[in-house]
Amino acid sequence: MARKSLLDLYKMKEKGEKIAWLTSYDYPTAQFGQAAGLDMILVGDSLGMCVYGYNGTVPVTMEQCLIHTEAVRRGAPDVYLVGDMPFLSYQTSDADAVLNAGLFLKRADVDAVKLEGGVRVAGRIKAISEAGIVVVGHIGLTPQSSGQLGGHRAQGRTAEAAKATLEDALAVEKAGARLLLVEAVPPEVTAIIHKALTIPVLSIGAGPDCDGQLLIVSDLIGQFQAFTPKFVKKYANVAEVVTKAIKSYVQEVKSGKFPGPEHSYDMLPGEEEKLRKLLGGPVKKAAKKAPK
Ligand code: KIV
Repeated sequence: MARKSLLDLYKMKEKGEKIAWLTSYDYPTAQFGQAAGLDMILVGDSLGMCVYGYNGTVPVTMEQCLIHTEAVRRGAPDVYLVGDMPFLSYQTSDADAVLNAGLFLKRADVDAVKLEGGVRVAGRIKAISEAGIVVVGHIGLTPQSSGQLGGHRAQGRTAEAAKATLEDALAVEKAGARLLLVEAVPPEVTAIIHKALTIPVLSIGAGPDCDGQLLIVSDLIGQFQAFTPKFVKKYANVAEVVTKAIKSYVQEVKSGKFPGPEHSYDMLPGEEEKLRKLLGGPVKKAAKKAPK
């Protein structure tokens, strides 16, 4: 299979075929995602919460993002891969933004990079795009600036705020972004944005009236435990399955049921006998001693 391209995504938009997008942070999940038919994968800075147990995305570094993005690309060579620019990798200057965006291409072979913000980051989007790198805009709820937004809250819920969200969307497209992600915005607002823009518009918690959907894999599979946003649909309960499996292992180790003979390696024929002779008699079991 050939790798999905930006052109493929634009063709899907034209045909009204929805784009399925999911985050992934590691090699096996990326393999599963590609096998399951994902069109796009985002190695989100949400890895800070989903993988490292941070309270938010602000502590996440470029190096962490790059290492996880490299692993995901190895697992999903054919999926359209988006690297997520972490906090302080693009806020400081156009030069930093271009350099860090470029590192995602050089090291992790991504197809695009995503950065948060609308009007206020239009200059950065322009600089990265002019360096020949595909940019995915991200507006609405932008977790890296959730402090300014008053927490992880839905955005664009008043007429004024909805107008500002539309202005963000228009600014992102004008600056050169080739895809737009809208997060936690009422569906009516997303529908207006979708109509106003020519680039594909994707939603995470922003309703169905656009070109595709994104979810966080740790939410979708029921792995992330701290909280569940309203827009999440859980398709599995991995936390329950994994905890149950580990519990069974603990019980079997303690009861001596595991490992069974089928989990051990046999000595080669005749070798046990030879060993006994070498050792000068039957092998005695070591006496049990409590640690001091
Ligand atoms: O980091 C991430 O996974 C994201 C999503 C919340 C959109 O940016």
